[in-house]
Amino acid sequence: MLFPDYRGRRLRANHNFRRMIRETKLSRDDLILPLFAIEGKSVKKPIESMPGHFQLSCDHIVSLAKDACDAGIPAIILFGIPDKKNPLATRAYASDAIVQKAVQEVKAKVPEISVITDVCLCAYTDHGHCGFVENGIIDNDASLDLLAKTALSHVKAGADMVAPSDMMDGRVAEIRQTLDEEGFSHIPIMSYAVKYSSAFYGPFRQAAESAPQFGDRRTYQMDPANSNEAIREATMDIEEGADIIMVKPALSYLDIIYRLKTEIDLPIAAYNVSGEYSIMKAGEIMGWVNAKDLIMETLLSIKRAGADLILTYSALDVARELKD
Ligand code: PBG
Repeated sequence: MLFPDYRGRRLRANHNFRRMIRETKLSRDDLILPLFAIEGKSVKKPIESMPGHFQLSCDHIVSLAKDACDAGIPAIILFGIPDKKNPLATRAYASDAIVQKAVQEVKAKVPEISVITDVCLCAYTDHGHCGFVENGIIDNDASLDLLAKTALSHVKAGADMVAPSDMMDGRVAEIRQTLDEEGFSHIPIMSYAVKYSSAFYGPFRQAAESAPQFGDRRTYQMDPANSNEAIREATMDIEEGADIIMVKPALSYLDIIYRLKTEIDLPIAAYNVSGEYSIMKAGEIMGWVNAKDLIMETLLSIKRAGADLILTYSALDVARELKD
């Protein structure tokens, strides 16, 4: 059909027509809110690089979990900033460590919200890498036990789902096996299966105090140039027992989200990461863009590309804006 038989503007003419033919809708059901937990009481320390976000002690984590729940958000994901870092990342899996305490408190006080935990070692190791390091090398296989121990300790504290983000090979299988052996075969794993080595994580590393102290993460996170490799990574994690496959970051990788949506059959999550958030907030502070509209448009584009779930620092604002 060509003009003048077809006139695209007919169905764009008013708000109701646009609503009626809208192909993609963002819903509160799609959103996961990331929060940063820190030791102490009544601590709410602003994260400079992420306006509107804070390092929060457990009491504040509980109150934000309540706000998220009231706004209709189904889940939060917790990151921890430990009291001490060491080579074996012991504060990642201790039963009285920060994430474990935060999970316990949220589940006791806001049981309706689901709590996901990020499983990684980078915030807990003194060198800031996501795995166990020996002689300057990130040792894949030696990291697996520590990661599985971390996941198990989160689940024992009450986590409803675990999300390994370290990009060591074989960690989903190791975590699945450990959880199954310990009686947690019902706990799902959301794997950061397709995680690129990205400059967009900069603000997060300030938030989580997790910047690597030597080198970078390119020996374990993916090369941004690769697309077929995303399929291999996702396929491997599905075979190892992942229940949800995540792509991270989101905005520069919409093609990857789309490919995975069409080529694999599991729910897809996308992480609208710290740099994506901070750039928009910075633009707003400069008075150059309307961050609210920009955020809505970008989250919609992530959904349109094929994401079923979106982890976003804007979750609370967006959920309050959405009606369902
Ligand atoms: C931990 C982890 C990172 C993010 C989530 N989990 C940082 C990294 O890999 O350096 C990034 C999240 C964000 O930028 O918002 N490995």
